[in-house]
Amino acid sequence: MEKMVVGNLKTTMNFEETSQYLKMINQEIIDKGVVICPTSIYLSFFLNHNYEVGLQNTFIEEGGPYTGEVLPSQASGMGVKYTIIGHSERRKHLNEKDKLINQKVIDAIKVNLKVILCIGETLEEREMLKTDYILKRQLINALNELTPEMLDNVIVAYEPVWAIGTNKVASNKDIEKTTEFIKLIIKEKYQYEKLKVIYGGSVNADNIKELNQIKNLNGFLVGGASTKPSKFLSIINEVIKK
Ligand code: PGA
Repeated sequence: MEKMVVGNLKTTMNFEETSQYLKMINQEIIDKGVVICPTSIYLSFFLNHNYEVGLQNTFIEEGGPYTGEVLPSQASGMGVKYTIIGHSERRKHLNEKDKLINQKVIDAIKVNLKVILCIGETLEEREMLKTDYILKRQLINALNELTPEMLDNVIVAYEPVWAIGTNKVASNKDIEKTTEFIKLIIKEKYQYEKLKVIYGGSVNADNIKELNQIKNLNGFLVGGASTKPSKFLSIINEVIKK
C-alpha cells in the first residue's frame, strides 16, 4: 500500500528557525509521499520542492470578506495541494464545530485541495466509552453531502486528542481497530471502499517502526517530531522508503 507522511509544523518556529529547517529539509526530502504543512505565513518558502505543501486550515469560500482567513481557492491557486481541517487544537481553542468543518471540507475539495480531516476523542470521552460515538459523529457530520468522487480527495487522520503532544501513543491494536471502524462507517454510508486513514498523536522516530506495522493504515500525521529534521527524515525513511 502506498503511504504518506504529513508534517504539521503548527506554530512552532520563528523566521530564523524556519530558514534553518528549510535548509535541511529541502536538500534531504526527495519523496513525493511527503506533505509539509507550515505556518501559513511561511508557506511560499516551502513551495516548489520535492514534497507537497499543505495548509493547517482553510476557511469557507462563500459569503463574505473574512479578515485574517485564507480561502481554499487562494491556496490551490498558489500550488498548495492539501489542507488540514478540523484539527483538535482548532476544535478546542477556536471552537470549531462540525457544521463549519463540513463546509470547509466541501469548499476545499471544490477547488481540488486534498483534505486531511482530523477526528479524535478526548481522554474524558474515551474513559466514558464514547470513542466510537464521537468518531462516528465527527466523521458523518464533517463528510455530510460529499459524493463518492469527492471522497477521493479526503484523508481521515485519526488523532486521539489525549495522544497529541503528550508522548502517549495509542496501541497498534487500538489504532488498527479504529481504522477499520472508520473505513466501515464510510463504506456503509457511501458505499466507498477506498478511504485513506492515517494516524497522528505522538508519532516519533523511536516508535515509528512499530506503528508502521499496522496493516490497514495509509500513513502518519506527525506534529512535534516533524519540526526536527533528523527525526522527521527517519520517520519518512521508515514509512515511505520501505
Ligand atoms: P504530535 O502532534 O505529533 O506532536 O503529537 C500531532 C498533531 O497534532 O497533528
